Amino acid sequence: MSALHQSAVIGVIGAGAMGAGIAQVAAQAGHQVKLYDNREGVAQTSIDSMAKQLAKLVERNKFTAEQVQQILARLSVANLLEDFSDTGLVVEAIVENIDVKKNIFDALEAICSANCILASNTSSISITRLAAGMKHPERMVGMHFFNPAPIMKLVEVVSGLATDSDVATCVYETALNWGKKPVYAASTPGFIVNRVARPFYAESFRLRQEQVADCVTLDTLLKGAGGFRMGAFELTDMIGHDVNYAVTCSVFDAYYGDFRFQPSLIQKDLVDAGFLGRKSGQGFYSYKEGGDKPQAQCVEVSPLDDGAVITCEVSKDIGYLKGLVDRLSRAGVQVTEVSDLAKGYLKIGDTFVALTDGRMACERGKEEALNDLVLVDLALDYQSATHIALSRSATTSAEAFNDVVQCFDLVGIKVSEVVDSPALVVMRTVAMLANEAADAVLQGVASAEGVDTAMCFGLNYPQGPLVWADAIGVAEIDKVLTHLQQSYGEDRYRPSLLMRRIAMVEGRFHD
Ligand code: NAI
Repeated sequence: MSALHQSAVIGVIGAGAMGAGIAQVAAQAGHQVKLYDNREGVAQTSIDSMAKQLAKLVERNKFTAEQVQQILARLSVANLLEDFSDTGLVVEAIVENIDVKKNIFDALEAICSANCILASNTSSISITRLAAGMKHPERMVGMHFFNPAPIMKLVEVVSGLATDSDVATCVYETALNWGKKPVYAASTPGFIVNRVARPFYAESFRLRQEQVADCVTLDTLLKGAGGFRMGAFELTDMIGHDVNYAVTCSVFDAYYGDFRFQPSLIQKDLVDAGFLGRKSGQGFYSYKEGGDKPQAQCVEVSPLDDGAVITCEVSKDIGYLKGLVDRLSRAGVQVTEVSDLAKGYLKIGDTFVALTDGRMACERGKEEALNDLVLVDLALDYQSATHIALSRSATTSAEAFNDVVQCFDLVGIKVSEVVDSPALVVMRTVAMLANEAADAVLQGVASAEGVDTAMCFGLNYPQGPLVWADAIGVAEIDKVLTHLQQSYGEDRYRPSLLMRRIAMVEGRFHD
């Protein structure tokens, strides 16, 4: 089934944040759109504020005044649900309550024509449950937009057990025509994004709870090394802890208490205290006027002696740290390849340096009999990273550590020393995101491409978690997870079966 023709009338129910945005998207794509809200005057108010937003876009040359006039002319208020009798697609975006939504769909079945597609923008309710008891459950589908709908590209096209695949295809193709990046998803708790993103928050919360670093340092590392637009603390302060915590609890409950989705006590504390983030003036950070702006903890560097040259020995196979070695070399560090250095190691002065493999430095140093050992966190791209986490074993001397910090200083990368903890910060986060992504693929929720597209276009991740796992090496990620699981003895870190299977054959998630 191909996309809906532009002549199809689109109905949108609920003129709140999402409904108004969806109506705008459909009108911009050339459809006549009818907007209905059960609170009197709300649909018209939404269209009026849309007009103001669009006028601003004319000022910024995104649209001409004529285009905006045409878009607005395509939007109208529906005073009654009965006005939806000529629609080809209805998107529901009302309150997140299954009974209220079901009532709406019951009413729509009696009003709309037999071939009208009924879609819900729900973020957490099962499409299978919503469709249950409908006369034609096969035409019920999830069309999950992200906020703000006119800007965010992703649309999860969610199929319940009864959804006709032609209906899902039609919605997918229609979303494409609307300039969106649709991905198919099966109706499972959290769909793709709200499930796969859980570890992004959970691992930062745990690192904070275990006092590995403070919030601003962890946020800075996720941005400066990981390439994420925001760290977990600032992001959840923006989302609102009540909202973010409720999503985590609902996914945790829906998976029958799987510890991989366990909510965090430190976030619960914030909710209990009413510290909901930006909207309440206090979350992990304070938003009160004149409040402190915390800075990331950085290691003070002892300057190099005049004329001193840093030397760096590199093993023949340096793996993912190649970008770092290239950057050191360009900055004047004398890099020499040596054959007797174990795979993946650098030696700066007398200090052994390696990318974290999920073991703590104290553990790895002991197992490999390395006295001076510094572990480096993962970076999205070592060529452009601005900040990095390092950790060291208890036997590593201050001088040995300083030699390594000087190296990073030389190339302009700030260093935060974090408490010796498994997989540091970015590696731990990315490994857990990739693990959740792998499990979603394993369980047929979405394809590897679908998951990666969803995370990039729904949450602006710098790279899909599975593309990232391929770049690091799936076997490496599997090793990191296995070490995390051994350190904690917890099911939360168990590698996905798919991760393990691909790791065993040295395969990849993407061709
Ligand atoms: P909202 O509270 O801003 O808007 C909901 C609108 O629906 C209100 O204007 C309300 O008057 C109207 N409404 C409530 N019951 C109604 C009924 N029986 N008939 C007609 N209109 C009714 O809510 P928001 O944020 O727009 O969310 C709507 C849906 O979209 C929810 O299912 C939510 O889970 C989902 N969603 C929300 C996102 C967000 O970031 N806010 C993102 C993606 C999905």
